[in-house]
Amino acid sequence: MSAGSEDLSLLHRPVLVAEVLQHLAAEGRERSLVVDGTVGYGGHAEAMLSAWGSCRLFGLDRDLVALQSTKTRLARFGARVRLFHASYADLPEVLEEAGDGRPDAVLLDLGVSSPQLDVRGRGFSFRAEDDPADMRFDASSDAPTAADFVNRTDERELARVIFEDGGERRARAVARALVAARPVRTVRDLVLAIQRVVPRDASGLHPATRTFQALRMAVNDERGHLRRGLEAALAALAPGGRLAVISFHSGEEHAVKEAFRAAQATGRARVVTAKGVRPTEEELAANPRASSARLRVAEAVA
Ligand SMILES: C[S@@+](CC[C@H](N)C(=O)[O-])C[C@H]1O[C@@H](n2cnc3c(N)ncnc32)[C@H](O)[C@@H]1O
Repeated sequence: MSAGSEDLSLLHRPVLVAEVLQHLAAEGRERSLVVDGTVGYGGHAEAMLSAWGSCRLFGLDRDLVALQSTKTRLARFGARVRLFHASYADLPEVLEEAGDGRPDAVLLDLGVSSPQLDVRGRGFSFRAEDDPADMRFDASSDAPTAADFVNRTDERELARVIFEDGGERRARAVARALVAARPVRTVRDLVLAIQRVVPRDASGLHPATRTFQALRMAVNDERGHLRRGLEAALAALAPGGRLAVISFHSGEEHAVKEAFRAAQATGRARVVTAKGVRPTEEELAANPRASSARLRVAEAVA
């Protein structure tokens, strides 16, 4: 599929929607300003705007293509919605620029959306072999692409990233194969190099899955943005306001748990979900992408 005129928002099915609504709307509390820090294709945003008739919503995303599609999807909510081409890590600057007070709910739905994976040209999917190896959320920036990262990073550092961000046990062999394949240009160049050293395992996971996750995280500095974003969101919330985070892999989950634990230990927040909330069987049957999703919620203390 090319990034043409089709309605991309229809390609993404938001996860844990009922659970997000339930946890963000603490009993009896009006939600007047809500921040969707990863507004993506607007699924969660649309649900919150529909459920909370009077709330206003700030939607942030690093991906301009997603924001353009979301603008159309949320147009019927008029002035209740403002969209920002920004990282959630820059929430303090966005709030200051908007000058609209403190939010009483913030949602972060981490990772990539289905359209980012499915639409050709972005390089996020190992299936789109002719794509340039790009993987930047913000393809409008002049930041280095995944190809630049692989072509310029030394082998030891590549191995570290692939092991730590992808959990790939054969990280050293993968790094060696990628260095030998330089200069890489396309997704195919990456996949062929990885397949040389990572066999298909019994779980059916594609050999490139872990390495692609690691490269995407490095190219977008996802760890750094998440760390700054969690701090920024907890600090920005009005007293009693809630932060909900949906994570998709253990690295993200660990960062969220740690940030919530530290905020609770210093009396800045109360952890609402002792364990991560998982999707119901019904949701899993309808949307396999939800299988690794976990929702964690914290409440800002006055
Ligand atoms: C799982 S999707 C969100 C889907 C959205 N909740 C929906 O219902 O359509 C994750 C989105 O987060 C965006 N993203 C990733 N890192 C970001 C960051 N640091 N700041 C803002 N958006 C980010 C991606 O571009 C992607 O659109």
